[in-house]
Amino acid sequence: MTNRPGGRRLLVRDLAQLATPAGGEAPLRGEALGAVEVVRDAYVLCKDGRITSFGPMRGLDAALRESDGELEELDGRGLCAVPGLVDCHTHACFAGDRVDEFELRATGASYEELHAAGGGILATVQATRSAGEAGLADAVRRHRRWMRRAGTTTFEAKSGYGLDRETELASLRAIREAGGIPTWLGAHAVPPEFADADAYLDFALTEVLPEATRLAAAADVFLEEGAFNVDQARRYLTACRAAGLALRLHGDQFTEQGAIPLATELGARSVDHLEATGEAGIRMLAASDVVGVLLPASALFLDRRMPPARALVDAGAAIAIATDFNPGSSFCESLAVVSSLAVTQLHLTPGQALSASTVNAAFVVGARDVGRIATGYAADLALLDAPDWRYLTYHLGGDLVATVIEGGEVAWSRAPERSERIGPR
Ligand code: NIG
Ligand code: FE
Repeated sequence: MTNRPGGRRLLVRDLAQLATPAGGEAPLRGEALGAVEVVRDAYVLCKDGRITSFGPMRGLDAALRESDGELEELDGRGLCAVPGLVDCHTHACFAGDRVDEFELRATGASYEELHAAGGGILATVQATRSAGEAGLADAVRRHRRWMRRAGTTTFEAKSGYGLDRETELASLRAIREAGGIPTWLGAHAVPPEFADADAYLDFALTEVLPEATRLAAAADVFLEEGAFNVDQARRYLTACRAAGLALRLHGDQFTEQGAIPLATELGARSVDHLEATGEAGIRMLAASDVVGVLLPASALFLDRRMPPARALVDAGAAIAIATDFNPGSSFCESLAVVSSLAVTQLHLTPGQALSASTVNAAFVVGARDVGRIATGYAADLALLDAPDWRYLTYHLGGDLVATVIEGGEVAWSRAPERSERIGPR
């Protein structure tokens, strides 16, 4: 398909470097997790939205002879190409903000106290229910633009701030319309109109699941004290699996409640957070096929201990990193910032952070053709204004991303007057 005659081609040429997770089947773990293929003085050739070839500039003439079609060229001098980043855990479908709570937390209130007092997630539920479907679609599109500017080309987003039939389904539709991969977080919190978690789950599983399964790719549950317990999580996830959804869990965020044993028992795709995971959990996750999704911006934002990333990687676990972008526990949409935190706070290497935010994250969301610069993969690239690809992790909070390419088209480019390329031109 990528070599059909005619068609549109995009050539990114004269790149200082191109870096991609090296070979191996996803999810990568062990040695393979940190292995990066770097090409200096490189090009990437795309056609009809796919990567058709890449490599050193000296091979470009031959590559061009092997394909045809209209050719658009992009000057990559002073830039480094990495795969478009994949954010596999966001709560990007919300209305309103929690800036007042943010200030209260600064003066001593805890996240759990605010939640127990009816604030926290339930405050965002109120705002989200009032936004209407068009308002939600606007919000997700706006958040997508924010993510893209930091290099994200594929994103997952969860519902979970509706918790009624209409708003949950509207959230999933809004996420799809904005190009996101929707996850039904039907078990995020118990809304005030229900007496308890079991009564709410009776409703969610009979009234919402049959339609949610048509819109979502996965289901997620918040397994935590004050949210859903392990039996309730098992009930919810088992029903969602039977309806055809992949399974995710918010687990071990504040306390260990059996999320890792439940994830392995049910064959979940991932268990996310893991700030409170202990030795036994680390061993069990490492021995399983479940991916541990680490969310360092959330731990930082709530001033909690970081998840035991180094121990997980050393034990052989497959890991991904993500923003957890949401208004309460991680108001951070930048996977580039999270990649920096992965190195400085989680003690991953830049190569491990790259695999964790691309190919492994793509595995978590079931997108098998994104997250690498490889022939046949989607032509999604982030072009970094940097002489070395490791600036992705090194330039903490920097104005790093010059251009974002999605499906072989320029999806976003920094204003030219802001381009101050570092290094030789
Ligand atoms: O992943 N922990 C549960 N859910 C989100 C936070 C949602 C919120 O605070 O609005 C999280 O951190
Ligand atoms: Fe989350």
